[in-house]
This record gives sequence, structure tokens and C-alpha cells, in this order.
Amino acid sequence: MDYSISTQSPPDLTADCLISGVFAGNKLSPSTAQLDQASGGAIARLLKNAHLDKPGDSLLLQELAGIKAKKLLLVCLGPKKEFKPAAWRKALASALGQLQKDKSRQLASTLGDDLCKGLSSYASARDSVLLCAEATYRADSCKSAEAQAKAAPKYPLQHLCCWAADAAAETQMGLGLKHGQAIAQGVNLAKDLANLPGNICTPSYLAEQAKKLAKQHKALKLSVLEEADMEKLGMGSLLSVSRGSRQPAKLIIMEYKGAKASAKPIALVGKGLTFDAGGISLKPGAGMDEMKYDMCGGASVIACLQAAAELELPLNLVGLVPASENLPDGAANKPGDIVTSLSGQTIEILNTDAEGRLILCDTLTYAERFEPAAVIDIATLTGACIIALGDQASGLLANHQELADELLAAGQASNDRAWQLPLWEEYQKQLDSPFADMANIGGKGAGTITAACFLSRFAKKFHWAHLDIAGTAWKSGENKGATGRPVPLLMEFLLQRAGQK
Ligand code: BES
Ligand code: MN
Ligand code: ZN
Repeated sequence: MDYSISTQSPPDLTADCLISGVFAGNKLSPSTAQLDQASGGAIARLLKNAHLDKPGDSLLLQELAGIKAKKLLLVCLGPKKEFKPAAWRKALASALGQLQKDKSRQLASTLGDDLCKGLSSYASARDSVLLCAEATYRADSCKSAEAQAKAAPKYPLQHLCCWAADAAAETQMGLGLKHGQAIAQGVNLAKDLANLPGNICTPSYLAEQAKKLAKQHKALKLSVLEEADMEKLGMGSLLSVSRGSRQPAKLIIMEYKGAKASAKPIALVGKGLTFDAGGISLKPGAGMDEMKYDMCGGASVIACLQAAAELELPLNLVGLVPASENLPDGAANKPGDIVTSLSGQTIEILNTDAEGRLILCDTLTYAERFEPAAVIDIATLTGACIIALGDQASGLLANHQELADELLAAGQASNDRAWQLPLWEEYQKQLDSPFADMANIGGKGAGTITAACFLSRFAKKFHWAHLDIAGTAWKSGENKGATGRPVPLLMEFLLQRAGQK
């Protein structure tokens, strides 16, 4: 899909279908009122027989005199008094969903600049792109060509023209479209990688995809540590996880240089567990297929490096993705095994299913050599985070409150929210081990916090935040699929850091 902006008056916008807003009780939005006037009051008349109450309720009108667009889709934004950006998003998503089943390919929308409180012109343009990307996304690369063709819409959406009220809004929306397209491309890449099955998306496959990106962007550099390299370095914790697997582990290192060499980089560390069976502490069978999504953190890191390069952000970034499988095998980690991490700290592995922290801890120690300004790790780390926060918010824990605040604000601004949990010293003792420096699990209570406590022991030398995306990275059930989260949150954070907003 591609995008444009127009400052023509709404009745003059040409399109197969124009989308415009109505509040509950048939209250016309300002631009819909303009359309109504141009049509000689036809819209208000036709609305009398419709009930548009809830956000997303809609009415499709054809060939109205005085309006250039062939069709007009009136979509409800909910009650005017309670208007929130969430209602706006629901309205546009519902309109796009309907128009996918329609013959309309060329869309225009006045929704983006209709003076909706709480949503800037910039944000509405950016969100419009993300909603279009969401509506048109398909994960059918593993279906046969026939099945793909059969499921594809007959008249796919091709273009969205966003209406801007004036030149100032046009400039803001231009930036929104630009950012939105880069973020959407990142979200789609993260989804594509994550939706692939574990037998295709292996650690080597992830490394290959990162290599492809580095070839496409001059500012991206790729290197990969092989198991032999990790052995030499002393990454005993990371290597212990991949011992039970026939697929060799990889540590993917992507460097993006958009600022002067002396500028300290932001490091993004993403868990790239391409299949988590639990190891010897085997997971139950039901729903185990979803553990192909245990690399969503890694996918989001690769996606953010792509988006940053696409936008030529003026900052330096390092993306680190430890990639491995976690499978049971004669050589696999066993409960009670003790391993030595790259930091020198020893770990008693009481549960081989708490493997994410084992691959992340060595990667965090490795991140020290980049002298990062901040390190953010992103991981589908604990089932406990789903219990705590469900699928609405990612868990956020940090050793530096300013960094945590920046990420919380970025989550709010990008509608990809996180919620902070405490990282109090008192929780650390849950990791005590009689035999090693620490255990890899912290017992029954506060599973998300004790996992972060574990990681914090490897993050003492820098400002660090941890995003637990176990509940947000993918959806189960009928709409099973990766969400691309938290790419929007991370990109918002990077745009802010780069001074682009
Ligand atoms: N990848 C899982 C966490 C997970 C589970 C994410 C379900 C999303 C859905 C992680 O490796 C894991 O198995 N964690 C264990 C830790 C426990 C053994 C302390 C968990 O959460 O059960
Ligand atoms: Mn696990
Ligand atoms: Zn896992």
C-alpha cells in the first residue's frame, strides 16, 4: 500500500471510497459537516435512518451529488464527549476491514485531521499507516500458491490519501507517514519472522535474515558469533542451552551507525529462542507450538535495526540477538547442573525451562564491550507476566528510573504500552543457591520480577531496562499470530532519543 496527503476540501477528494467520521447521535465531525453541506444535506438525511452509536459502526453511501469520491463510508467515533484515540483507531480499523471486502482500492480519509482531541495530525497519520498494515497483513507464506490466491482479497487496498486541514497539518502528517511506513515495515518483518515455524526459522535462519538486511543498508554491519567463538569467550550459560539441540546457536550482532563514531550506542538485546520445548524440564504438550514465538524479542530487535536504518536515524545502535533452541536430549542441560557465565558468576540450573535468562545473561555481559549509553532487553521471558498483565501491557523493569520513564512514555505515545514492576533488592534472595552464585529460578512468587532480578546481576555496568513481552508479542486462539510488539514502543523511544520528534 502507498500513501499520500491532500489539502483539497473533503468534497473534492477523489477516491473509490472516502472515509469520514460521525459521532454518536449523528453528530457530524467538522469535515463530515463540510461533506454534508456539499451534498445539500443528503448525509444528515440518510443518517436519520441509521444507528451509528459505537466506535466502528458504519454506513456506506454511494454516488452522492456534490461529492467527488465514488462512495462515502461514514464511520462512528463513539460519543463525542468520551472521545479517545482508542475509539478513533477502532473506527479506522473497522472501516479498513469493511473496505477490504469491497471493490474499493483507492481510499481517502478525513479521519486523520478531523480535530480529534488527544491525537495530533502527526500521530493520526502514523497510526493510519500502522492500521492499514495491520489490516492487510497475511501470514500465508507457508500455504500453497493456490491457497494463497484463494484467500487473497479480490480488490486489495492500494492507496490511502490522508486529508490535511492546512499546510501545517500537512507537514506534520508527512512526517507521520514517513515514520509510520518505516515502523510498519519493521512490525511486518517482526511478524513474518515470528510466524514462521521452528523448523524454518532456526538460529541460522535468523542470522541469514540479519545478513540480508545488512546487505541492503550501508549503515548496517553484521557479525555472527558461532558456538566455537562463544566457547573461546566463555559463554558457558548461553552454550548450555543449545547443547540439547542439533541446530547450532548463533549470537547475531547488528551495528547501525547513524551518528558520529564517538556517540555511545543504544544496545537492544532480544531473546531469539527459535523453539522452546523446555528442555529436560519439558513443557506440557498443549499449545507447545506457540513456543515458536519465543524468538519474538530477537525479531523485534532485527526489525528495529531495519527501521532505524530505513529512517537514517542520527544515532548509533547495537542489536544483539542470542539465538538458540531449547530441546531435551542426552546432551541437554539437566536440573542441578551448574554452569559458568561469561561474567564469571556461576548458575545452578534448577529448571531447564528458565532458559531465556541463561542466553540473555551472557549477551548482556557481552554488551559491555560496546560501552552502551543504555541497554534494553526484550524477551518472551515468563508465563508469570501473562498472569500479571495479560495481553495489554509488556512488563517493564529497570535499574535506572529515567530510562524506565522514557520507555513508559514511548509505550503510551505509540499505543504499545508497558507497565513497570518493582525490582526491589528484597526479591534478590529468592535466587539464592547453596551450591552456585545463584539459581536460575526464584520459586513460586513474583516470577517476572525474579527473572529480571537474575538479569540485573549481569547489567550492573550500564543503564538497563528489561521488557517482558510474553503476553504482548503474539495472540493465541482464533486470531493466532505475532503482533509485532514492541516494535512501535521501541521505535518511538529511538525517535525521541534521536530528536526526530
Ligand atoms: N518462553 C518461556 C516463557 C513463556 C511461557 C512465554 C508461556 C510465553 C508463554 C520461558 O522460557 C519459560 O519457560 N519460562 C518459565 C520460567 C519458569 C520455569 C521459572 C515459565 O514462565 O514458566
Ligand atoms: Mn522456557
Ligand atoms: Zn523460553
